Amino acid sequence: MTKTRKCKYCDQNAIIRLAYANLSLCKKHFIEFYEKRIKKMIEKYKIKGEVMVAVSGGKDSMALLHALNKISNEAGIDVIAYHIDLGIGKYSEESKKIVLEFAKRIGVLLIVSDIKNDLGFTIPEIIKYSNKPPCAVCGIVKRWLINRVAYDLGIKYVATGHNIDDVSTMYLKALLTQDIYSLSRGQYEHMDPMPEIKMVGRIRPQFYLSERENRLYTILNDIPVVDIECPLGKRAVIHKYKVAWDTLLRINPVGQINLTKTMIKITKNLRETERELRQCSRCGFPTESDRLCAFCRLVSRFKSWKKE
Ligand code: AMP
Ligand code: FES
Ligand code: ZN
Ligand code: ZN
Repeated sequence: MTKTRKCKYCDQNAIIRLAYANLSLCKKHFIEFYEKRIKKMIEKYKIKGEVMVAVSGGKDSMALLHALNKISNEAGIDVIAYHIDLGIGKYSEESKKIVLEFAKRIGVLLIVSDIKNDLGFTIPEIIKYSNKPPCAVCGIVKRWLINRVAYDLGIKYVATGHNIDDVSTMYLKALLTQDIYSLSRGQYEHMDPMPEIKMVGRIRPQFYLSERENRLYTILNDIPVVDIECPLGKRAVIHKYKVAWDTLLRINPVGQINLTKTMIKITKNLRETERELRQCSRCGFPTESDRLCAFCRLVSRFKSWKKE
């Protein structure tokens, strides 16, 4: 027989046990706990004014949009949603539909970019011009476009739905594959805007929240989530490493948070010395490279191959 746990703050039955915080919570108190965490993050970094939330249609960013919008008055921020139609067949069609409907339902202004119209290619088309894995190419395009659109609109901060499972797994994978470059770049919860190199500030309010918490938040708030998986991401190696946490978290529920905090401390100095950002000589947006940014290199390969 499984024991029913009571909520830590009232006499209702708990619907979730958060082992990392030694906390059992009912629906009402879980929602309160979740939104308080997001609000605290916004306050910790003194974020004010317009925040553009990059929404994919997946559970993390949809939960983020809902939570940020709900706390926006109290926190003193104005939320704008941003979605990119990546042109990945049914997956992109369904994602766009869900994001459009949801933004309308909660009354948030939504900006949509269609990369085929804006950039002249879809993700399935551009991945052929790079030997990087599809998700890496897609990431380059998304990061560049999110930054450009926010910069052109004069927005100071972009919020994305990265969670502790993503962040801790990136560290774990980098450690196990001797990927010193990724380790030195590190993972950040917050990055200040750098207008001199056209870089918009970035925040990851769910940095220490898990996929499980984000999923539950969407269910409890009746938030729609795209139910098709991206067909290009299925074979991404990172998913294989994620499974390792199922075992590790049973041994140590704070393992993901501890690994992340340890790596941030260890790599802090590395990051400051090795990571020097400058402006790309073609587009003017930030890059670590001496000349062209990763996005412009990709586009120039695409254009020259198309001419041949
Ligand atoms: P991913 O790179 O797919 O792990 O996504 C990381 C974050 O980027 C998501 O949590 C979103 O905030 C943002 N994002 C991903 N895909 C899109 C999209 N199609 N449109 C807007 N934002 C996106
Ligand atoms: Fe970018 Fe799948 S969403 S590769
Ligand atoms: Zn309760
Ligand atoms: Zn560039």
